[in-house]
Amino acid sequence: MLIQHPADIRPSEITPAEVYRGRREFIRAAGGLALAAGLGARVGEVAAAKLTGSRPGPFGTREEMTPWKDVTGYNNFYEFGSDKEDPARHAGSLRPRPWTVRVEGLVRRPGDYDIDTLLGLAPLEDRIYRMRCVEGWSMVIPWVGYPLDALIRRVEPLGSARYLEFTTLNDRAQMPGLRYPLLDWPYTEGLRLDEARHPLTLLAVGLYGETLPNQNGAPVRIVVPWKYGFKSAKSIVSIRFVEKQPLSAWMKAAPREYGFYSNVNPEVDHARWSQAKERRIGEFFKRKTLMYNGYGEQVARMYSNLDLRRYF
Ligand code: MTE
Repeated sequence: MLIQHPADIRPSEITPAEVYRGRREFIRAAGGLALAAGLGARVGEVAAAKLTGSRPGPFGTREEMTPWKDVTGYNNFYEFGSDKEDPARHAGSLRPRPWTVRVEGLVRRPGDYDIDTLLGLAPLEDRIYRMRCVEGWSMVIPWVGYPLDALIRRVEPLGSARYLEFTTLNDRAQMPGLRYPLLDWPYTEGLRLDEARHPLTLLAVGLYGETLPNQNGAPVRIVVPWKYGFKSAKSIVSIRFVEKQPLSAWMKAAPREYGFYSNVNPEVDHARWSQAKERRIGEFFKRKTLMYNGYGEQVARMYSNLDLRRYF
C-alpha cells in the first residue's frame, strides 16, 4: 500500500517549469504567451497561463510526476479524435473563455456559473494524484482545483438528489471529433452524490500550476482519482442533480465493458483484457494495479455493501 500524506510542497516548487516542460519547450511557450495576445493561441501549449495562489492540498503522492509533455501530449478526448495525439493537435479550436457551467436539477439554488465565479468559489489547491486509464496506462498528475463539494454545498442539493450527471460541451465548430459518431454525443458521465462529495473528488481548473490546457479539459473538468480515467469528464458545461442513476456515454456505447462505478479494480477484468497491471507512462515494466488506484483507505467504505463484480 502506498503511503498517503499531505503534500506540503507545491508541484511548481518541486519542479521548475523549465524542467517539467523541457527547457526548449518552455522557451517556446513563454515566447508563445506573448504572441498569443496578438496572434491567437497556438495549439494547447500556449493556452496555459499561471494560476496564482493555490496551496498544497491533502492526499498528495510523492511518486514521480509524469512529465508535462506526456500529461498534455498523450490524451483521451474523443471530441478531438481518438488517437492519443489528436487532442493536443486539434484542441486549439476550443475556446475556454467565456465559459458557463449550468448547475441544475434537484438543488435549491440552481444557476449558471461563469468560469471566473467558479474559480473564486473556494481556495485552489495543488493535488498530485495517480490517474489510471481503463486502457491500462497510468500517470501522476499535479492538478490544481478544489473539492467539488465546495460547489455542491453552495447549490444545496435536495434530499431527493442521489446522483450527479456531468455533460461536456457539444459544439462542432469547436470540437471537430463530434462529426464522427464515436459516442452518442455529448459526452456524459455520472457519480453517486457521496462520490461527488468525497474530499478526493476535484473540480479541476489547472495542472502543473497553470490553467488547464485545452486537451486536458479546459477550462474546467472533474477529477476522480480512484476511478478509471473516463469518469473524469472534461470541459463540462452542465452538472445536473438527479434521483436516478444516469446513463453515461460509455455505458451507452458498450454496456458490457463500462459500468457505472468503474472503480479501479485489479480483480475485475475488462470484458476484453485484464486490469491486473498497468504501464506508468515513461516506465518500461508494468506495475501491479492497486485496488481503488491506491485510494482504498479513503474510499473503500463507500462500497462496503456493493458486489464489485456486479457493480463494476
Ligand atoms: N471527457 C470528455 N469530454 N471526452 C473524452 O473523450 N476521455 C476520458 C476522460 N474524460 C474523455 C473525457 C478518458 S478515457 C480519460 S483516460 C481521461 O479523460 C483522460 O484525461 P487526460 O487526457 O487529461 O489525462
